[in-house]
Amino acid sequence: MTRPVLLPAVSILVLALPLFARGGHPPGDARGEKMIDSLVRAMTIEEKVGQLVLCTPLRDDSLAGPSVSAEQARLIARGRIGGILNIRGARATHEAQKIAVEESRLKIPLLFGLDVIHGYRTTFPIPLAEASSWDTAMVEQDARVAAAEAAASGVNWTFAPMVDIARDPRWGRIAEGSGEDPLLGSLMAAARVRGFQGRDPASDGSIAACVKHFAAYGGAEGGRDYNTVDISERTLREVYLLPYKAAVDAGALTVMTSFNEIAGVPSTGNQALLTGILRTEWGFRGFVVSDWTAVTEMIAHGVARDTPGVAALAFNAGTDQDMESGAYGLFLSRLVREGKVTAARLDEGVRRVLRVKYALGLFDNPYRHSSEEREHSTLLSPDHVARARDAGRKSIVLLKNSGGVLPLSKKIGSIAVIGPLADDRGDPLGPWDALGRPQDVVTLLEGIRSALPPSAHVLYAQGCTIEGNGTGGIAAALEAAKNADAVVLAVGESSAMSGEAASRSSLDIPGIQDALIEAVAGTGKPVVLVLMNGRPLSIAWAEAHIPAILETWFLGVQTGNAVADVLFGDCNPSGKLPVTFPRTVGQVPFYYNHKNTGRPAVDTARFTSRYRDLPSSPLFPFGFGLSYAAFDYSDLTVTPGTIDSAGTVTVAIRVKNTGARAGEEIVQLYVRQDVGSVTRPVRELKGFRKIMLAPGESRQVEFPLPGRDLLMYDAAMRRVVEPGRFTVYVGTNSRDVTEGHFTVRRK
Ligand code: NOJ
Repeated sequence: MTRPVLLPAVSILVLALPLFARGGHPPGDARGEKMIDSLVRAMTIEEKVGQLVLCTPLRDDSLAGPSVSAEQARLIARGRIGGILNIRGARATHEAQKIAVEESRLKIPLLFGLDVIHGYRTTFPIPLAEASSWDTAMVEQDARVAAAEAAASGVNWTFAPMVDIARDPRWGRIAEGSGEDPLLGSLMAAARVRGFQGRDPASDGSIAACVKHFAAYGGAEGGRDYNTVDISERTLREVYLLPYKAAVDAGALTVMTSFNEIAGVPSTGNQALLTGILRTEWGFRGFVVSDWTAVTEMIAHGVARDTPGVAALAFNAGTDQDMESGAYGLFLSRLVREGKVTAARLDEGVRRVLRVKYALGLFDNPYRHSSEEREHSTLLSPDHVARARDAGRKSIVLLKNSGGVLPLSKKIGSIAVIGPLADDRGDPLGPWDALGRPQDVVTLLEGIRSALPPSAHVLYAQGCTIEGNGTGGIAAALEAAKNADAVVLAVGESSAMSGEAASRSSLDIPGIQDALIEAVAGTGKPVVLVLMNGRPLSIAWAEAHIPAILETWFLGVQTGNAVADVLFGDCNPSGKLPVTFPRTVGQVPFYYNHKNTGRPAVDTARFTSRYRDLPSSPLFPFGFGLSYAAFDYSDLTVTPGTIDSAGTVTVAIRVKNTGARAGEEIVQLYVRQDVGSVTRPVRELKGFRKIMLAPGESRQVEFPLPGRDLLMYDAAMRRVVEPGRFTVYVGTNSRDVTEGHFTVRRK
């Protein structure tokens, strides 16, 4: 047993002094490093290990939310806990922080972590929905709002952004990320980090970001959560790793490991990933936290026999902090004494954690301006709610609008609002709703009622439940439909059907909702299908039979108002799918940037790569989304026709609004390397622009395409631009494009 180092009173004072000093906090700056050096010198092994322990509160007996138990309070006072997760609220965090900075020997403040994924109290659209906006400025703003609310409540660290690429919609966590594309995912990842952390993570209203789940968690076999991932290094580097890298480049202070293994190595014990790629290649300087009990789960993975074994494996690989498994708290000191973990590695882990605390300004102000008054004025403020409405409108994707059913007229005499999600207050919050409350949600029915004049008759019938089989409500729904001029039918999933541990083997609309849709369609009334869900659903029947379909995902507190804005044309929808919609679950994994194969699918040719019982195309391709306007693309130019790898091609196209309404279009640029030393995807997104066009207006949209955007891993895994011909595709989605070419010359 090492005896605790007892510091003379004077040195405690010296250590405590910088805690309240003022100034900037760039991670790694001289002032911080000096302070961290003196702290590390003064710490016992147990206090060092304490910084690497993240645990959850054991007491949740108050309305204010969970707070620390008496036992945890004792551990904090002894410097045995570095951070707490799932604690929230100014009062609870103040209480816990006070113990750390007033009662513990070295007065090191605590981190308070929470999954602030798409808002804190003001719930924004789920990340998959926000990705449908392709609007990075909006996403940054929304993360900023979430950070401001969380910070007011004492939370100083969010377990977000979740940036896992997802190519399989069976995986429930597809809802938490930005979909299937590495470029869109990277831009969203960086935007969220900027939003959470602000320009200075120590500034008022900023919190630390945690990019997760490192790495390739979305590659789970069969879309089953926590399942094995076995992908090539090329796919890892060219697809899955890019958004994490973008988040790290944007300054994310922390990274979370993923539950999965990759090619036999669980991420939490993966040195090549956590140290080789993350630190050596990318220069990451923050700390790595495990996912929840992921350290001890490596016993079940079968890479060590017991808890000390996995603790050593995880820590030596580069997992600095242990979330909730208890392995570090119980065994790390012993492992250091036994020489299974070096003292230098221990110090390094501690320094990384302290550096993040310093970067957050916690040593200057451990409470970081959180207070109950501030909570009161910040959470769900009118400005935040207005932003949530705007985000909701921009996240909606119009999938179908035949015969111009939409927008509906506000002069409509009567409208039937039908479906299990039509007046649902809880599910629109989506998975990971932090402090979101059902009572804050504007339901679709409420949104429609408030959009219409009092003279309009709004009829409502639930029809059925989301997952149940009872058909008793269908008759009333049909009655409502028959008595109305138009029907808005809100169907989809419950929020519990997506998020963690919510994989599905089917992509069908659950329960008997399909029967409800068919029955309502049978009335012959104009029907607008409003989908609420956390993943692409297989809606082939609806696509063939229902005239108008809106994908609204889970839009958060302003669901009803945002959807009504689009239904009645106060907002012209502009969202585009960040994921491919398959026709049936049998097509997944299904993503637009796939390889061509030696026998690319031809639906009429037997010996090609296809299913004999399905068309080879998706129901809706990546990037798809309609508008109440119509856009015409012409005059594609690619200049110059030849560049070298250091050059830049300019791709230009004219886009004209040929519709009768002003509208926003997201113009998309894709590129294909026609021939490579290894096979290349059939197309890859390389850029996009969101433009607003008045009716009749046209604009030339230009994309500079620098040679570095053509980098790929060659047959020898060198990152190069290979010479040869490239095809560019520009258009309104990944399928409907105009193409041109350029060549990269050999140097
Ligand atoms: C487990 C989840 O995988 C992770 O995303 C989350 O941040 C932690 N639990 C903490 O809630």
